[in-house]
Amino acid sequence: YRNAAATASLPTFLLVGPSGGGKTAFTTLTERNTITQTHTSTQPLTVEALLPSPHIPASAHYRSAGDPAFERARRFLLLDTPGHGKLRHYATAQLADPKTIRAIIFVVDAAALAEEAGLNEAAEYLHDVLLALQKRYTSATTSKGPKEIPVLIAANKMDLFTALPANLVKHQLEKAITEVRTSRAKALRDAGAALSGGEDEVDEEKEWLGEGGEGAFEFSQMQEIGTAVGVVGANVLGQGEKGSVEGWWEWIGENL
Ligand code: GTP
Ligand code: MG
Repeated sequence: YRNAAATASLPTFLLVGPSGGGKTAFTTLTERNTITQTHTSTQPLTVEALLPSPHIPASAHYRSAGDPAFERARRFLLLDTPGHGKLRHYATAQLADPKTIRAIIFVVDAAALAEEAGLNEAAEYLHDVLLALQKRYTSATTSKGPKEIPVLIAANKMDLFTALPANLVKHQLEKAITEVRTSRAKALRDAGAALSGGEDEVDEEKEWLGEGGEGAFEFSQMQEIGTAVGVVGANVLGQGEKGSVEGWWEWIGENL
């Protein structure tokens, strides 16, 4: 049997990413093991799910299937958020205080990344997600730092022939985030010059994602703030049917 308290304590995987990436499609597939027609989300949605076999939750890898503790460890929550630019406050609110968040899954349409507009939108959103995690880490008061929150870049729609492969998804996003970082810093500097304040420099540093200096942004720089970033390709849908998201479930298992 289940009760509300037991459900509330389950690890939550937060789904974010641009509109149309496939967050809700993945949520319904994971919850019901069937695909359904989705519509752009206007509200966040939490579903309870069970890690499908043969995937194994890391916290119970030494237990056997059927053991009640193993069965309990397979349970988790998916928190699906709307990706539309005007509805991101649902995701931002979670990121500002991610106490209950175990991990973040950034779902992106890998075919959309082949176009400049799609790539820039995804890079800006991902930049902001990672910056929120960085701020949380650097403003932590304990010397130990806050709990680590890993990020999966879930490169979806690999069934489309225009989809970028996972290694290119990673490379293109790193390149585009490098540019986002530079243009955000310039905007801050321009705003600071208009104000003529004394503490602009401090702020600028806080808003800079990853390592300082002239180098390019790389996801590996997020290790320093306790965030491992992985990129895994999959497709929620196939040719009018169910696709395969085994790689994402595997990643969830590693963090469950
Ligand atoms: P928002 O709610 O607006 O943030 O979007 P979302 O990320 O929830 O996207 P959603 O799950 O609604 O999917 C958007 C569209 O992409 C739907 O028409 C899905 O059927 C389609 N879609 C999802 N996954 C795949 C996939 O793997 N391949 C293909 N070809 N289409 C997909
Ligand atoms: Mg949705």
